[in-house]
Amino acid sequence: MSSTATNPASRTVASTQSEMTELILPNDTNTLGNLLGGRLMHFIDLTAAMAAYRHARTYIVTAAMDHIDFIEPVHLGDLVTLKSSINRAFTTSMEVGVKVWAENTQTGISKHVASAYLVFVAIDKSGLRVRVPQVVPETADELRRYDDAQLRRQHREAEGARRKKAQLETAALDGAAATEPQST
Ligand SMILES: CC(C)(COP(=O)(O)OP(=O)(O)OC[C@H]1O[C@@H](n2cnc3c(N)ncnc32)[C@H](O)[C@@H]1OP(=O)(O)O)[C@@H](O)C(=O)NCCC(=O)NCCS
Repeated sequence: MSSTATNPASRTVASTQSEMTELILPNDTNTLGNLLGGRLMHFIDLTAAMAAYRHARTYIVTAAMDHIDFIEPVHLGDLVTLKSSINRAFTTSMEVGVKVWAENTQTGISKHVASAYLVFVAIDKSGLRVRVPQVVPETADELRRYDDAQLRRQHREAEGARRKKAQLETAALDGAAATEPQST
């Protein structure tokens, strides 16, 4: 891991808050005129990265995007607003939460359409992982998200371990099958 000389020991959630608004055009939509899920995931990744950059102040990579809930479809011509902020920092990784709203331009009515959690890892120019500042939650909501981020990390780790075990078991079975004598 490389040094953190330019970073403070901690930052507030407010200092990472980021926002992006997009007008949904035909190229963003499927044949029903609704926003493509993949396009929305791209917007989510970008908005989350803004908060992660503001927290880490170094290069970052997306390590995981999980828990995306697509609650309502977004329609052609809607204005989509995404808001992100850091939930919690660990050693070199950070969890960012993103919330998405779609506004009907004719009625002005805005609906919550999606939410997601992403994990970014901080790296330096040569790809070495970098320690990130800790997060200081200041409000009740920030504290709740901070605590929940720890639980989600535990779930991700448990799921990662479960997948690794399953891969090892499959590889062992494949290896055993490959060494079995072939009948003629
Ligand atoms: C993400 C990446 C840097 C992790 O590297 P690694 O050598 O596997 O790292 P480690 O297993 O030692 O874990 C390093 C940190 O990343 C976290 N991490 C790694 N994989 C993760 C995952 N799938 N989900 C959440 N966190 C993850 C670890 O919890 C750890 O966090 P901590 O330092 O805060 O405790 C590496 O897998 C990578 O470069 N992936 C490709 C990233 C990419 O191309 N993204 C898309 C374009 S930006």
